[in-house]
Parts: sequence; C-alpha cells; structure tokens
Amino acid sequence: MDLKEAIYTRRAVRDYTAESVDEATIRLLIDAAVQAPSAVNQQPWAFCVVRDKKVLGSISRQAKAHMLSTTPAALLSHHFQEILNDPGFDIFYNAPVLILISSAVENAWAVENCALAAQNLMLTARSAGLGTCWIGFAEGWLRTPEGKALLGLPGSHVPVAPIIVGHPRGEPPAVPRKAPDISFI
Ligand SMILES: Cc1cc2nc3c(=O)[nH]c(=O)nc-3n(C[C@H](O)[C@H](O)[C@H](O)COP(=O)(O)O)c2cc1C
Repeated sequence: MDLKEAIYTRRAVRDYTAESVDEATIRLLIDAAVQAPSAVNQQPWAFCVVRDKKVLGSISRQAKAHMLSTTPAALLSHHFQEILNDPGFDIFYNAPVLILISSAVENAWAVENCALAAQNLMLTARSAGLGTCWIGFAEGWLRTPEGKALLGLPGSHVPVAPIIVGHPRGEPPAVPRKAPDISFI
C-alpha cells in the first residue's frame, strides 16, 4: 500500500478481533514512529506497550472515573456521560495492544513530537492491515502520578498519545471531511 492509500483509507477502528499483534510487528510500527521529525532533533519519545488485559481493563476503569470526576458536567455530552458511566464500556474497545507514546522531556514541543510519531505509527499500521485509534479518553488519567506508576513511567514523562492497535473486525466507513478553510495571502 502506498502512502496516499494509507492516508486516505486509515480509519479510527473501534472493533477488533481477538487476534494478538506479534512483537516483531509492534517493533516495526515503533521503528516507523521514530522516523518522525522532532524539535531540535531531541527524539524525546518513549513507547510503553501494554498487552496485559488486566492492566488495560484497570486503565479503562480508572480513566473513565477520572474523566467523570475532573470534567465539568456541562462539558460532557449526554452520550459521553452515558458511556463513561457504563461499566461495560471499554475505552480500548477490546484491542489487544495499547502503545502509549510519551515525551521523556516536558518542554514546549512534547505534544507535537509525540503526535507526529503517532501519525507515522497509525499510517504504518494501516499499511500492514492493522487498525488503530488514538484514545484521548485515557490521556487525563495516564498523566496522573497513579497512571504513570501503573505503567512504571518516570514522573518526568508526559504521556501524549495512547494508540490502540489490533486486527480490525471490518472496514469502518470513512468519516466525511469538512471543506478545508484555506486562505492564500
Ligand atoms: C487526539 C485524539 C483523541 C481521540 N480520542 C478518541 C477516544 O477517546 N475514543 C475514540 O473512540 N476515538 C478517539 N479519537 C478518534 C477520533 O474520534 C477520529 O479520529 C475521528 O472521529 C475521525 O475519524 P477517522 O479517524 O476514522 O478519520 C481521537 C482522535 C484524536 C486525534
């Protein structure tokens, strides 16, 4: 699959088969991630690969509770309130793998660096026939001292991009794009 096809056919995948993703494939995705540009060539990213179902379940439960307790109700849509209160809702959609990309340094470009690595990872996964989805629901709790401790991350790390990876059960339909707001000066 060429780059254009990967860009145009990547989808946020929210339904996975039970098939695992082998370590060699995970390493291939991370190798693509670290090809991203980074500010001052710091390459500050660190990758934590979570495959333990119990740990994934624990993060999902605590992240939902964290979002509910830290987000003002007025800012949570009815749909979000419903799913976050649903004990059966797994924020990771039963994906077999979570790759958390964190910045090892807290600086002005921590988010940009890790987001660029995340996009490389997601497009490479697409071209390998795998599905991915960035799980923003997990971010808040993963940045807490408890979240970092669960994954053995140093306190100085900044978790940025929690990306689930797995074998998609089907092809999700494309989400239509708005017309870009472009101005030429
Ligand atoms: C920063 C960020 C956070 C996201 N968080 C979630 C999330 O918590 N749960 C989820 O199901 N999808 C999440 N998504 C996926 C978006 O909903 C998805 O990318 C968007 O609807 C467009 O669909 P597409 O990726 O299939 O083009 C997130 C995407 C980004 C970039």
